[in-house]
Amino acid sequence: MKKLDDFRLILGNRELVPIIVGGMGVDISTVDMALEAARLGGIGHISDAMAPTITDRRYKTHFVKQKQSKYKYNVDNNNKSDVQFDLGNIAEANKIHVTKTMERKQGEGLIFINCMEKLTMNNPKETLQVRLKSAMDAGIDGITLSAGLHLGSFALIQDHPRFRDVQLGIIVSSVRALQLFLRKTARLNRLPDFVVVEGPLAGGHLGFGMDWAEYDLKTIVSEVQQFMVKQELNIPVVPAGGIFTGSDAVEYMENGAAAVQLATRFTVTDECGLPARVKQEYFKANEEDIEVNQISPTGYPMRMLKNCPAIGAGVRPNCEAFGYILDSSGNCAYINAYNAEVEKHPDAKKVSVKEKTCLCYQMRKFNCWTCGHYTYRLKDTSRQLTDGQYQLLSTEDVFKDYQFSVDHKILIPELRSEIIS
Ligand SMILES: Cc1cc2nc3c(=O)[nH]c(=O)nc-3n(C[C@H](O)[C@H](O)[C@H](O)COP(=O)(O)O)c2cc1C
Repeated sequence: MKKLDDFRLILGNRELVPIIVGGMGVDISTVDMALEAARLGGIGHISDAMAPTITDRRYKTHFVKQKQSKYKYNVDNNNKSDVQFDLGNIAEANKIHVTKTMERKQGEGLIFINCMEKLTMNNPKETLQVRLKSAMDAGIDGITLSAGLHLGSFALIQDHPRFRDVQLGIIVSSVRALQLFLRKTARLNRLPDFVVVEGPLAGGHLGFGMDWAEYDLKTIVSEVQQFMVKQELNIPVVPAGGIFTGSDAVEYMENGAAAVQLATRFTVTDECGLPARVKQEYFKANEEDIEVNQISPTGYPMRMLKNCPAIGAGVRPNCEAFGYILDSSGNCAYINAYNAEVEKHPDAKKVSVKEKTCLCYQMRKFNCWTCGHYTYRLKDTSRQLTDGQYQLLSTEDVFKDYQFSVDHKILIPELRSEIIS
């Protein structure tokens, strides 16, 4: 019986354990998690989502305060088009984030950065360009383009000295999205180094409509593979979304996948950025506690725990400080939903906004409990303690379980010594 460790991912001149820990913004897939994946010979992801905010928190910079004081005058204005990010500051924040990560890297694996196109930051093209280039400047091993079609992203970095040496990949949810991307980038003579095919059971934003349940990962992966054969392309294909055991992964590898991308099982590890009490919510969740909803102002459906505080919250938008979701005209669907609610209840001290959520605020506060479909199976991956809490895992526990397990078995780690004593 094969295990995932019987396979290797060949990327450039490297041979890697075919495990990619997917990017989870905002700071859910932390530097520590990515470093562990790389140390163990796979690929880990950090995310550049809200990098100025994350850098302030982790490295005591003041990017948010600076932006907030610059645009203080606009706070009561519903029109946020004035509120621009300073491109130099984005570059600086990203550079600190990536450099501090790469300095600590050990082992044979790689560290990539997840870069979501939907983080439009009131200036989609230029902010994306700065994000991509600054990550490359700071020595990132690879970039995974996500949450968007990224039709212009390669062109934005084509003059960067590392354009042809950094590992560049894209996440798609259909063969059509891949075709579009390849068609658009054909003139650059630069193919992606890997393609993540993300199905409807993934966490975070979904590349499907509310009819997501009608799709399945196996079919999409096989369509992408057939397309590659037809086009005589030899790009590693990496399935993602709902791969819960090492044996699930092996099935894909036996059918020609180059690696798998995983996330949900890593949300209950020590290294995951979610607060401890939130990790317990993930452990405790049952199938009926999880929904795919449309409250993300990005317009993409998102899967989350129904009891998360982000749902129905009515915080006042603070785009002067944050504003990561503002589109090219300074709009965000949450602002509209919030204003409509305030208009309906002019005397209320607090409003509840059901239609959309303020992703900037809620992700920063770890109130938006986005999760994969199989979150309800996490309780089967650890042990419940006498007080009802579940024992956290380590990234190494989960990584190695995927790497070595057979027959869909999940190795439950021993009771931790600090709990015994
Ligand atoms: C908590 C959480 C947050 C996520 N955030 C992002 C993100 O910021 N960007 C992204 O491209 N994918 C994101 N994803 C998707 C993962 O990177 C990954 O591709 C997918 O969840 C893999 O499926 P699995 O969770 O069933 O293993 C997220 C997933 C989870 C569980």
